[in-house]
Amino acid sequence: MAPKRVYLETFGCQMNELDSELVAGQLASLGYSFTTDSDQADIVLYNTCSVRERAEQKVWSRLGALKAEKAGRPGLVVGVLGCMAERDGTDLMKRMPVVDLMCGPAELDKLPALLDNAVRTRASFLADGPASADLRSARVSALQGSASRRSSTLAAAGDDLEMLDLARAVSPTDDDAKRSAYVRITRGCNKFCTYCVVPHTRGAEIHRPPEHIIDECKKLADAGVIEITLLGQTVNHYRFEHGAAVVVDGVTQPQKGRTYKGSHHRDAFAGANTTTFADLLRRIHDEVPAIQRLRFVTSYPRDFGDDVLEVIRDHPRLCRYLHVPAQSGSDRILKMMNRGYTIAEYDEFVARARSILDKPEIGRPLMLSGDVIVGFPTETEEDHQATKDMLVRSRCKNQFIFKYSPRPGTVAYDRIPDDIPDAVKRRRNNELLALQSEISDSISREQIGRRFEVLVEGVSRAEMKKRGADVKPGSGMVGITVGGRDPAAAATLELPDTDETVQLSGRTDTDLIVFFEVPSAKAKRMLGSIVEVEITSADRLALTGRTA
Ligand code: SAH
Ligand code: SF4
Ligand code: F3S
Repeated sequence: MAPKRVYLETFGCQMNELDSELVAGQLASLGYSFTTDSDQADIVLYNTCSVRERAEQKVWSRLGALKAEKAGRPGLVVGVLGCMAERDGTDLMKRMPVVDLMCGPAELDKLPALLDNAVRTRASFLADGPASADLRSARVSALQGSASRRSSTLAAAGDDLEMLDLARAVSPTDDDAKRSAYVRITRGCNKFCTYCVVPHTRGAEIHRPPEHIIDECKKLADAGVIEITLLGQTVNHYRFEHGAAVVVDGVTQPQKGRTYKGSHHRDAFAGANTTTFADLLRRIHDEVPAIQRLRFVTSYPRDFGDDVLEVIRDHPRLCRYLHVPAQSGSDRILKMMNRGYTIAEYDEFVARARSILDKPEIGRPLMLSGDVIVGFPTETEEDHQATKDMLVRSRCKNQFIFKYSPRPGTVAYDRIPDDIPDAVKRRRNNELLALQSEISDSISREQIGRRFEVLVEGVSRAEMKKRGADVKPGSGMVGITVGGRDPAAAATLELPDTDETVQLSGRTDTDLIVFFEVPSAKAKRMLGSIVEVEITSADRLALTGRTA
C-alpha cells in the first residue's frame, strides 16, 4: 500500500497534546507521513476533548464539514481519538457516519491496528464499489467502556499503553529541536469530582514506574530538551510501591493508585520502599541535571505534603510555580463537587506553600494559578461572593474560569439540575474575570525591578507581525518550537545578522511571560537558552525587560 498521509489535530489539555505526540511517533515509525493540510490527507484524525460541551462542539463542526468533503474523496479515513470518543462511544458513530474509527485515550496502543483495518476497508470499498463492503459494520472502535476501568498491577498481561510511552520517539539534537516536553507520571483519575468526565474517559488512576519516567527524561535531555512538565490529573498523589511491583516480560508494570482518606501530612504517601511525588522530583532533578526546568501539572489542593514543597525549595531547577485549582470558594459548593477539602484547608495550603517557597527578595517569588467553575448548580450570590473572596486571598497570577457545563455520565448531570441561567453564569464569569485581571495586573507590577532567568521561547508575535511573517492564530509564541504546541508554527522568519533589534519572548520559571529586545545577530543564539532579564515595565499579561 502507498504511504498514507495523516492530518492529526489536537483539542483539549496537555495530556492530549502528549498523546498526539506519542501517536504521531508511533504512526511515523510504521511508515505513515504527516501533513498540516487536511485537504492533502488520506487520513484525518481528531484527538478530542470532552471536558465541556464547547470542546465537543468544535469537533462536531469539524466532522460536519468533512461529510461533504468525503463525498468527493471516498478513500478518506476519518478517526476520532481521545476523551470524546470514549464518552460518546458508539453513539458518535451512529450520529456521524463519516467516522470510520474511534479510539479512547486508554486504548491508544491499539490505534495502528484499528487504522490499518480502516484503511484496508476503505481500499476495498474503492476497488469493488459500495456493494462489496458493508462499511457501517466494518467501522472499528477501541473503547474501554466506563464500566471496565482499566485494571493494572495484578493483571496477567502487560500494560500495552505503557509501551506507547516507552516507545516515545525522540528526535536528535538540531537547531530546531524541541526544548520543552511533557512526560506523563500518572494516567487517569480516581477523584470523581461530580462535574467531571475525566475519570470516565481516562479510567482509573495509574502511576508509571519511576525508572520509566526518569529514563524518558534522560532520553529527552539527550535530544536537547531543557524543560520538562510532568503530567497527571493529581500529580501530588503520585506513589509507587516497589515491593508490590509486577514485572511482565521484563517490563515493570504501572501501578494502580490507592484512594487515601487522608490529610496533607508529609507521610500520607510515604512508606517503606515507596517512591513518593517528592522522591520522584528529587530523583529527576538529581539524575537528569541537563533538565534546567522541571514543572508539573495539575496539583490537588489536598494531600500536598510539606515534603514536596521542601524539595522544590531545596532544588534550584524545580520551578516555583504551582497550578492548584480551588474550583470554588464556597464550602457548600465544594462539597457538592465532591472535592474533599474545605476552603479553610485550601487557604491553609496556600499559606503553607507561600511560607516555604515565596522568596521574592532573592528573585524567587512563588506563583500560583488555578481553575474556577462558575455557575455550578444551586450557586447563590453568597457562594459567588465566597469565590471572589477566595480569588483575592489566594492571589493567583492567573485563573482559568469556566462556566459550568453539564456532562452526561457524571453525577452532577444525573442528580443536580443545571439551574443557573446562562445570563447569570455569564455575569458571574465576567465579574470573576474582571477581579482576576486586577489581581494579575497588580502581581505583574510587583515584578518591576526584579531580575529573572528567562527561557527564550521565540520571536514575539508582535515582532513576527511587524516583519510580515506568517503568524498562526492561537500559536502564542512563534519562532521556535518550544512548548511543542504547534510544530507547524516553527520559525518562518530569517533573522538578519545585524544590529537592528528584535523582540524576543520567553518565560520565567514562575511561568510569567517576558518580552525583551536584543540585536538581531544575537537573537538566534538566545533561542532555547536561559538569559537573565531585568523587568522594566509590566501589564496584566506580560512583563517587559532588558537583558541584564
Ligand atoms: N485534574 C484537574 C482538572 C482537570 S479538568 C483538577 O482536578 O484540578 C480542567 C478544568 O476543567 C478543571 O479544573 C475544571 O475547572 C474544568 N472543568 C472540568 N469539568 C467541567 C465542567 N463540567 N464544566 C466546566 N468546567 C469544567
Ligand atoms: Fe476531574 Fe476532579 Fe479528577 Fe480533576 S481531580 S480530573 S476535576 S475528577
Ligand atoms: Fe479534555 Fe480529556 Fe483532557 S476531557 S481536558 S482531553 S483529559
